[in-house]
Amino acid sequence: MKKGLSLLLGSIVILALILTGCGNSDSKSSSGSSSSNNGKLEIFSWWTAGGEADGLKALNSAFNKKYPNIGVKNEAVAGGAGSNAKAVLATRMQGNNPPSTFQVHGGAELMAYVDAGKMQPLNDLYKKNGWDGKFPKDLMDLVSKDGKIYGIPVDVHRGNVLWYNKKIFDDNNLQPPKTFDDFFKVADKLKAKGITPLAMGDKEPLGATTIFEDVLLGVLGPDKYKQLWTGDLSFDDPGVKKSAEIFKKMLGYINDDHSSLAWQDADELVANGKAAMNIMGDWAKGYFTSKNMTYGKDFGAVNTPNTDGSFMIVTDTFGKPKGVKNSKQVDKYLTELGSVEGQDAFNPKKGSIPARTDADASKYDEYSKNAMNDFKDNALVPSLENGSAAPQGFLTKVDTAVNVFVTQKNVGNFINSLKQASSSLK
Ligand code: GAL
Repeated sequence: MKKGLSLLLGSIVILALILTGCGNSDSKSSSGSSSSNNGKLEIFSWWTAGGEADGLKALNSAFNKKYPNIGVKNEAVAGGAGSNAKAVLATRMQGNNPPSTFQVHGGAELMAYVDAGKMQPLNDLYKKNGWDGKFPKDLMDLVSKDGKIYGIPVDVHRGNVLWYNKKIFDDNNLQPPKTFDDFFKVADKLKAKGITPLAMGDKEPLGATTIFEDVLLGVLGPDKYKQLWTGDLSFDDPGVKKSAEIFKKMLGYINDDHSSLAWQDADELVANGKAAMNIMGDWAKGYFTSKNMTYGKDFGAVNTPNTDGSFMIVTDTFGKPKGVKNSKQVDKYLTELGSVEGQDAFNPKKGSIPARTDADASKYDEYSKNAMNDFKDNALVPSLENGSAAPQGFLTKVDTAVNVFVTQKNVGNFINSLKQASSSLK
């Protein structure tokens, strides 16, 4: 994993230097030098779009109410799945200038910082708050190493969701697709009516790699899907080729302007009826509800084709970097983020379900209630694109291969690139 972090740092430091200071407008200073922050807590994330930004705001307001004298500075850097934020963060961590706490996916992404000796264990904080047993074991495994806990999961997102515009489906008498065959039948009908079947926004890697990982899950099933990221299943497997072919076919149904759109722009096409479907993690639900759309009335959701029974986990966690200023205040913020109140302020707006098992289910809509049940019953699999399944160095190569494939659509070249990338997995 040390290799993971050095790859991460090595490959993105230049990008980070370019990006530093170029964050979104929500962020007062994306470089976030501690000295200029007058002792405020620096909360680092990439939550800037509708839904995710609202969740963060709700969490920070809940914290402000409890601790009016502790300032909080939102240091979010825009870019889906942290496409820019991860690079900025890596530079800060490398320069021993960490934010007070930061969003990081449980699993490989967090462990790269743990293995590099950059994080403090949080066992005492868990103990102090009586959190033992309050978070599911599967999540604790993603934030723990050798008996030490390094992160507090604030949410659980589902990565394998197909969203659709309810009015378009109702007007055209269509049922949301359950299988790949259904998907292509529905897509053909929509195309014949002049409606863009599938909205994709791959300005950032999240838009296209999400579709590909969901297709892999649908074709391979949960066990083989997991083996792919641990190096136990070769990219020569016929299921991978089949997935690439299905993905290629899907790309025949997307919007022309996909490469200039972010994930939320693709969801906007679904929201305003310019496209019928989108494949994205359920932060998309946060986006739709932030536009005053209601689940079941204005938009619907089903699991991506052939993935019923599997729940692709995306979990955002927060940890405590070593050398952080205002240690006691940071603990207070982390305590709020891990509390029932904090999680129930954040998650209904974010689109996710609470990481804690004892949160108040009545605060969530029907979509999230179903997700809570599925999270308990389904086969849980990690998302590659959202940092849990494999190290960043590998993910970067997959993202590049996917990006090239979206343009070239050459299955053979694509599989070769994936195979080459996978040599780093074992
Ligand atoms: C994911 C993250 C979500 C959401 C999404 C879009 O990686 O886990 O919380 O922010 O990216 O940016």
